[in-house]
Amino acid sequence: MSVHKSDDMRKVTTHRLSEMKQRGEKISMLTAYDFSMASILDQAGVDVLLVGDSASNVMCGNTTTLPITLDEMIFMAKSVAKAVKRALVVCDMPFGTYQGNSLEALSSAIRIMKETGADCIKMEGGEEIIESVQRILSAGIPVMGHLGLMPQSINKYGTYAVRAKEESEAQKLIADAKLLEEAGCFAIVLEKIPAALAQKVAESVNIPIIGIGAGGGVDGQVLVMHDMLGITQGFSPRFLRRYADVFSVITEAVGNYVADVKSGDFPNEKEQY
Ligand code: KIV
Repeated sequence: MSVHKSDDMRKVTTHRLSEMKQRGEKISMLTAYDFSMASILDQAGVDVLLVGDSASNVMCGNTTTLPITLDEMIFMAKSVAKAVKRALVVCDMPFGTYQGNSLEALSSAIRIMKETGADCIKMEGGEEIIESVQRILSAGIPVMGHLGLMPQSINKYGTYAVRAKEESEAQKLIADAKLLEEAGCFAIVLEKIPAALAQKVAESVNIPIIGIGAGGGVDGQVLVMHDMLGITQGFSPRFLRRYADVFSVITEAVGNYVADVKSGDFPNEKEQY
């Protein structure tokens, strides 16, 4: 496995992501939810850090992304933004903070921008939420779209299976991507859709398309950090590549610590005052 680190330490902006697409440089994106991990991921060279509402699952132990609140997202995004020097920081708008009407959406987005230091926000949906997207953009807040599998709509789908396999859903997805681009979104996440469709979307719009479970024909990739580092257990969709087994590393380290405490080996004479 090769290690890539950009020499370019300038802050990543939405404009620079657009330039990356134009010159065919792939965009790397991971989720982050706290100061310490965000600092490591930023120093490791990730281009975009997403304070995802997947925090509802991996940080809060919920089975869906629906319960997480705006206050909880703001708490995490604030910690991430403090840690980051280079990456673009995106904060998810949680379920129930933008679907009601565009004024409510704008005030949720303004709270995120005022209170966190994040660079922009992400919202799930196309035509259904376009008024909210437009209002937020007109306030000068950059918006990343999210189409395909939209976990905030899990109760509508009833399953986390691959989306847009049917022609009608694929056509709507392409139309939604164009609508989001026309509205002024700077990028779109496509989650769990056929690779050929994702590539078609990436070729039909000028803004970067970041995929998760959407194949290699798009402009960048995003994964949930806990999944790719092997912290989560028992979640192994086909699209997930595990780059480490941090669960085992922590289990072994903590097991050794417990054994040392129990045996009286820790602390030794050099580890006391
Ligand atoms: O919340 C999240 O982590 C996301 C990614 C899966 C893209 O939206």
